[in-house]
Amino acid sequence: MKETVLSGIRSTGNLHLGNYFGAIRNFVKMQQEYNCYFFVADWHSLTTHPTPADLHGNVRTVLAEYLACGIDPEAATLYVQSDVPEIAELYLLMNMNAYVGELQRTTSFKDKVRKQPDNVNAGLLTYPVLMGADIIIHRANKVPVGKDQEQNIEMARKFARRFNTLYGIEYFPEPEGFSFTGNLIKIPGLDGTGKMGKSEGNAVNLADDEKTIRKKVMSAVTDSGPTKKHQKPAEPIANLFALMDVVSTPDTVAHFKHLYSECDIRYGDLKKQLAEDILKVTLPIRERILGISNDSAYLKKVVRLGAEKARESAGKTLREVREIIGFREF
Ligand code: TRP
Repeated sequence: MKETVLSGIRSTGNLHLGNYFGAIRNFVKMQQEYNCYFFVADWHSLTTHPTPADLHGNVRTVLAEYLACGIDPEAATLYVQSDVPEIAELYLLMNMNAYVGELQRTTSFKDKVRKQPDNVNAGLLTYPVLMGADIIIHRANKVPVGKDQEQNIEMARKFARRFNTLYGIEYFPEPEGFSFTGNLIKIPGLDGTGKMGKSEGNAVNLADDEKTIRKKVMSAVTDSGPTKKHQKPAEPIANLFALMDVVSTPDTVAHFKHLYSECDIRYGDLKKQLAEDILKVTLPIRERILGISNDSAYLKKVVRLGAEKARESAGKTLREVREIIGFREF
């Protein structure tokens, strides 16, 4: 039997190169080998964005972008979280076995308390419970997410294990974080610091037009140039090379690394080349995003199919869970 892989993305912004190279490109390969569930976590987005101007539009954008990257709604199950009410019921049940103390101690909760002191809602506290429900509702084994989600996966394992122990049955598999390629690649942003992220404001979006991408890349942070021959590039230049590593040909990368090592590099040329090679990746995706976004009939079909498949699997789990806990029909 194929193992089950599941991943969710919050509907709070556009997908960027970091999402693509860090995760989605691998999802496209995984969907053939595994039983894959990919979903838009629109309930989760309410913990930080309770009144988005256009919630539906945001969900639609992420869906269109997922599809444009090559997620195949027939091979994988691609759905919207709020279309699957079974998740909410499992979340309710799992809340009975989650302890306030352990939830208060998670780093992401403490982080959010600091970031939004005026809106420390219970949804933030129980975020890991909902995420656990997302995962175990399809009895997923593998969750391909970045390092920042490790603690949430650890909580999901704990909730699964606790359920099994409490009811004396090996029902839920303990999910684990998973990297398809073996090593998690970190895609840096253009500001010379950490990773590319939508909240960091340093991202190249898949839907960006040509002019925007050239402008973003040309204004990426650099330094005043190498001072010694054969010196290894450090941030921020190392970041540009890391980006180049994923979008450019090995020859191109070697060429610019050589120039750097000989102190002959002109950052303007490097950036021009980088922009060119990023565009080769993103422009075809952008074209598809535009096409799919305009095709409401197709999106509707995809979402219906996804909801149907997701609810079938979720419904089965929930019937079994009710039975295990002891809820019976009269
Ligand atoms: N917490 C994840 C994030 O912020 C999104 C998410 C919600 C998720 N439910 C999930 C990821 C289940 C993997 C599995 O990126």
